[in-house]
Amino acid sequence: MERLLVLGIETSCDETSFALVESGYRLVGYVVGSSAEIHARYGGIIPEIASRKHLELLWPLLRELFTKVNCDVEEINLIAVTNRPGLIPSLLVGVSVAKAFALAINRPLVGVDHIIAHLYAPFIDNPNPPDLPFVGLVVSGGHTQIFLVSDWDREKIKLLGKTRDDAVGEALDKAAKLLGLGYPGGPVIEKMAMEGEAVYDFPVYRGQGFDFSFSGVKTALLYFLRDKELNHRLLRDVCASYQKAIVEVLVEKTIQSARNYSVKDVVVGGGVSANKYLRCRFEEEATKYGIKVHFPELRFCMDNAVMIAGLGYQWYIRGAKDSLGLEVFSKSR
Ligand code: KG4
Ligand code: ZN
Repeated sequence: MERLLVLGIETSCDETSFALVESGYRLVGYVVGSSAEIHARYGGIIPEIASRKHLELLWPLLRELFTKVNCDVEEINLIAVTNRPGLIPSLLVGVSVAKAFALAINRPLVGVDHIIAHLYAPFIDNPNPPDLPFVGLVVSGGHTQIFLVSDWDREKIKLLGKTRDDAVGEALDKAAKLLGLGYPGGPVIEKMAMEGEAVYDFPVYRGQGFDFSFSGVKTALLYFLRDKELNHRLLRDVCASYQKAIVEVLVEKTIQSARNYSVKDVVVGGGVSANKYLRCRFEEEATKYGIKVHFPELRFCMDNAVMIAGLGYQWYIRGAKDSLGLEVFSKSR
């Protein structure tokens, strides 16, 4: 297969990112900007602000990328853009830029599923990438899903389970709000938890199969806090307990699904996969069963265009249709 230089574009939420990746694996360069600081003032993402910020960041970031890599747009062979799922006004910005690029340089365009792309992140510039098939857990602000990935063909990616309500990141963000810790919640809860002890019990739905539910644990926290006066000690212990409760169920269900399908590799991706406690618990449990767990580099846990360019390449060489008329509004897989 000849070398293909792919331009990846990601604008599905509050990060604006562009990347150049060669033939699915070699990172040539990437840039990322974010409007997270502005959303922090409101305690959550405001779609209108996110999309306006994408428009502002677009050109400076693109210019920065092409200056950094010393490469000409004409060298690009393929364009890959996140087209689902995400905030519609944000997606539209990236998809419009992608279409403009594709038309201007007359190159094919593929739309990429953002959730599956999170599972592609550990394949970039990694001399020891995961083996396929693998079980993949995506834990982000909006999604919590387990997949069995047999190949990068869309038809060979099977959804095993998903959250019935809140996503893991959402459960952490909402808890941080209840605790007055600001947004985003995951990193701050992780930091507080490091100094605390998991002495409280916050029950998390387990149920049958590989589905999750995290709305109950958030309500349990709300009730727990009702008659308490929050001091620093209590805050740290609550963070440690809450984080532990959530991570344990993620580890349990993911390792169980890998065992069920006799798979030896597990990939965990998405913003929450940056969590050190989660990484540690996954490693501990996986080694008991001879399973290897793979995480993205920390910089690729958050939303980025590198994973989009990588997965876009895989889909394209497997015959994904050029999607100049791509459908932004269709539902996620
Ligand atoms: O994947 P991502 O960057 O954006 C989405 O596609 O949603 O994930 C953002 C989520 C937020 O909920 C944030 O609180 C969480 O990832 N997060 C973390 C950590 N860093 C970010 N959660 C736990 N520990 C972290 N270190
Ligand atoms: Zn994401």
